[in-house]
Amino acid sequence: MGRHPFFCLWLSSVIITTSTYLVQAVSEPQCQKVAPQQKILDQVRTATISVPGAPFGLAYAKQKGVAFVSLNSKGIGALGVLNTSTFIPSLLHTIALPSANISSTEALGVTLSHNGRLLLIAAGEGAFIIDTAKAISGDSDTVVGTLSHMGNNATAGNAAIEVTLSLHDQYAFVSQEYGPVLGKTRGNVDVFKVHEPTGHILISGTPVGHLDLGYAVVGTALSPDGRTLYAVSEQSSLDKPRGALSVLDVETLKTNPRAAQISNVTAGCGPVRIIVSSDGNTIWITARESNYLLAYNSSKLFTDPSNALLAAVQVGTAPVGLTFARNESRILTADSNRFDRVNATSGLSVVDVEAALKGSNQAVLGRIPTGLFPREFTVSGDKRTILVADFNSQQIQAVDVSSLP
Ligand SMILES: *[C@@H]1O[C@H](CO)[C@@H](O)[C@H](O)[C@H]1NC(C)=O
Ligand SMILES: *[C@@H]1O[C@H](CO)[C@@H](O)[C@H](O)[C@H]1NC(C)=O
Ligand SMILES: *[C@@H]1O[C@H](CO)[C@@H](O)[C@H](O)[C@H]1NC(C)=O
Ligand SMILES: *[C@@H]1O[C@H](CO)[C@@H](O)[C@H](O)[C@H]1NC(C)=O
Ligand SMILES: *[C@@H]1O[C@H](CO)[C@@H](O)[C@H](O)[C@H]1NC(C)=O
Ligand SMILES: *[C@@H]1O[C@H](CO)[C@@H](O)[C@H](O)[C@H]1NC(C)=O
Ligand SMILES: *[C@@H]1O[C@H](CO)[C@@H](O)[C@H](O)[C@H]1NC(C)=O
Repeated sequence: MGRHPFFCLWLSSVIITTSTYLVQAVSEPQCQKVAPQQKILDQVRTATISVPGAPFGLAYAKQKGVAFVSLNSKGIGALGVLNTSTFIPSLLHTIALPSANISSTEALGVTLSHNGRLLLIAAGEGAFIIDTAKAISGDSDTVVGTLSHMGNNATAGNAAIEVTLSLHDQYAFVSQEYGPVLGKTRGNVDVFKVHEPTGHILISGTPVGHLDLGYAVVGTALSPDGRTLYAVSEQSSLDKPRGALSVLDVETLKTNPRAAQISNVTAGCGPVRIIVSSDGNTIWITARESNYLLAYNSSKLFTDPSNALLAAVQVGTAPVGLTFARNESRILTADSNRFDRVNATSGLSVVDVEAALKGSNQAVLGRIPTGLFPREFTVSGDKRTILVADFNSQQIQAVDVSSLP
């Protein structure tokens, strides 16, 4: 009996703690057409190079002083090889991509294998597989294989946009923006087993299966331990503007993709790209139709998804790509303004990560001006330079990381 007052005290402190938590909880942003203007960071050093086509994906090679870019001109894709030994890159050569076996002539997201030997370029049913050494030397036999359905209906899409490889490059997870019938069906993640090259046999992949997610599945990212794949869908259903972030189990994806979803959560309007902190704890996404950068607690995405949102940062208009800089103390978002909103600008928002996670409204340090429709990033091996593809200006912009605020 004598213990009751203590019990009541304990109970009321729990209630107070809970309500304090609720007050501080981060709320998911609404949809927004035009983001407020930000301060321009004119001290940041950048330089641009024009390229023959609209650049989509970028990746530095493991080989020093080289980067790859996917280029599109009148619906025809090509691979551009860049010499990055100087701050302003130069174009070494472009390589045509055969449309064979892939039902597409475009070249979209670009992914380097973990061992650096292969480059995958998302397109159509799957991807082109490029031998990086041959691409650098300008060898005509650069495309060494494809990921395609090969007449098998286990994989479903024909609108591949990004590829993520498993930790040892044995499986490819291809985000299909739309499923089999353009615009009518859900997007999905197609899973391919990637075959190692032997002799002259082309590297190719065996379709394993697919997992249907929401509509317009675009960005995917692997956890650092390789066990989890995160995927975003722009809309969770056709009549709802909110997108979704899905948590997928990699071991299950390899054998039974349809059973691989562990959890999902709504994720602002039109989420399109994902990055994961190197400790695996924080998942960052761009919510393109909210003009927000969102952070999620990865362990809560498993245990308590509806309370996993950690931070919501207003950035510029229609953010697409995002990347860490300066040892993950900064994030840059590629604010694409891809819908050409009146009074909106494109640029790169520079976000202070610590301030963002503390809920500060001063987390955005300003905007770096860019060309039109900045889309995707890549960071050099020495972390000193970031390249961004300005899709609608047909240029690549180099950013000197040491000049970032
Ligand atoms: C890149 O340019 C530098 C300087 O001009 C040159 O030394 C180097 O060989 C070039 N790299 C390639 C891969 O061609
Ligand atoms: C395309 O398919 C044909 C027939 O299935 C095959 O012989 C060829 O190697 C494939 N090409 C590539 C680049 O995978
Ligand atoms: C897909 O393949 C399975 C098994 O081979 C077959 O039963 C099914 O009819 C096929 N579906 C379509 C839509 O072709
Ligand atoms: C989560 O996944 C379930 C099962 O596929 C689906 O019914 C639901 O709509 C998804 N939620 C969101 C927000 O996409
Ligand atoms: C994330 O969630 C875990 C488990 O709920 C918790 O221990 C951790 O403190 C959370 N991290 C942050 C940054 O809130
Ligand atoms: C990067 O940040 C981590 C943790 O914040 C720190 O331990 C590490 O020393 C930093 N590395 C560099 C190169 O600054
Ligand atoms: C654009 O900005 C101008 C000047 O601030 C303002 O007068 C105009 O209404 C804005 N237009 C739209 C469509 O927001």
